[in-house]
Amino acid sequence: MNEKIVVIDFGGQYSQLIARRIRENHVYSIILPHSVSLNEINSQYPSGIILTGGADDVWENDSKKISSEIFNLNIPILGICYGAQLISKMFGGSVVRSKNKEFGQVPITLLNSEIFNNIEKSNICLMSHSNEIETLSSNFKIIASTKNCKIAAFENFDKKIFGLQFHPEVVHTPFGNELIKNFLVVICKCKCEWNTKNFLETCIKNLKEKIGKKKVLCALSGGLDSTVTSIMLQKAIGEQLYCIFIDHGMMRKNEKDYIKKIFKNNFKINLIIKDAEERFLSKLRNVFQAEEKRKKIGEEFIKIFEEEAIKLGEIDFLAQGTIYPDVIESGLGNSSIIKSHHNVGGIPKNIKFKEIIEPLKMLFKDEVRELGNILNIPKELLLRQPFPGPGFAVRSIGEITKEKLNIVKEANKIFEEEIQKCELNIKINQYFAIVLDTKSVGVMGDCRTYEYVVVLRAVKTLDFMTATWVKIPHEILDKISSRITNEVDHVNRVVYDITCKPPATIEWE
Ligand code: XMP
Repeated sequence: MNEKIVVIDFGGQYSQLIARRIRENHVYSIILPHSVSLNEINSQYPSGIILTGGADDVWENDSKKISSEIFNLNIPILGICYGAQLISKMFGGSVVRSKNKEFGQVPITLLNSEIFNNIEKSNICLMSHSNEIETLSSNFKIIASTKNCKIAAFENFDKKIFGLQFHPEVVHTPFGNELIKNFLVVICKCKCEWNTKNFLETCIKNLKEKIGKKKVLCALSGGLDSTVTSIMLQKAIGEQLYCIFIDHGMMRKNEKDYIKKIFKNNFKINLIIKDAEERFLSKLRNVFQAEEKRKKIGEEFIKIFEEEAIKLGEIDFLAQGTIYPDVIESGLGNSSIIKSHHNVGGIPKNIKFKEIIEPLKMLFKDEVRELGNILNIPKELLLRQPFPGPGFAVRSIGEITKEKLNIVKEANKIFEEEIQKCELNIKINQYFAIVLDTKSVGVMGDCRTYEYVVVLRAVKTLDFMTATWVKIPHEILDKISSRITNEVDHVNRVVYDITCKPPATIEWE
């Protein structure tokens, strides 16, 4: 059994980051909602438990809670921000609204504690709280303070329970990673042997056992996630694997030919290419809402998979390249549904396959890229721009029409060409064009125009859970804007999106 840390999510914005940081220290981690039962926690055999931050006030009746039995499991516990306040309250301490709220980096003084091993005692941490622990029960002792927060960290060393008011998971707490490592190694006694290579070997072995002599149909979009999924499956079951690429008409320009060529040249894989543009576009006629578009596309995908499976004879499994952020953002436990990724939220309940296989379901994007490297997938494919399953459907705001699709595809192509020309593509993690549903007034050759608006979006991100917009030099933006308005029909305005995630998401729908 692999060692594992369970991260219990109280709705904090950094829950995924905490899970990431643990994996970077080579211990597997999973996120469970705060409503998880003790049995479920126990069934994971965790080496340690982390209670995350969250926006509730612990003293409110409807604030998120956890059973006090968790403290009797004899498993080390680390509470962060809300998690720390909850622990102190459950042991009889008091939590109050802070007189001096702290947001941002502040100096902190650390006292002796094993969780601070090898860490400079006079340090800096990131605080982000408007409530604070006022008093602790006698079970705990204070192990860190800041100017405005007397109880910045506490411990009950015998019971191996720790609480931190600050955030060790963010880079703005420079000693945060060392602290997390201490929690894993010194407190939880983890051996830290998890890595993507081990994961791959175990995963291929498990896939072999599970699938046996049966056949699998794998949904291939040509993006990183589904490509890695299909190559993993090929290693596990070889000829029993059939990959299907569905051209729904909302793909990048010339995508179908590109996929055909690159897969033929690099992998000996059974590849089915399905042209289904008309079918998808007719389903999307008169559909304006983002979530409805996503659901309809998801349903149509599944229908085609089922039809193709019947043609191929008995196929028990459908494989997909779903990754962890897809699952989380489609609504895990107490996280709210941000958007139904077509491969998660769009799947109908009465699907005809016996089972869906999602080998990457628990991995983050950069972990998937690491797997791709180990599997010798060509760099060209590994470094491709992430492209959402519903494609330009979620980049054509409102109803999808052929005219808008053409605009967004052409504008995107120009954007790609110019960014690649100045080699900014190495620095930008995702960039693309969007066409709005709104028209605006312009003037061309002394005449009034009333045409579409194209938005350019470019972000830098590590895990696609948070992102910052990229400051593309103005002269490059200028060139892109002028090429789009000159070369793409029915566009008279180009705007640049200067919003981070959060509060925006990367895609517009
Ligand atoms: P958001 O818009 O949620 O996007 O900030 C995060 C990352 O996920 C991609 N994305 C999707 N990928 N199916 C996918 O395979 C989808 O339905 C989907 N929606 C968003 C998005 O492009 C970004 O990389």
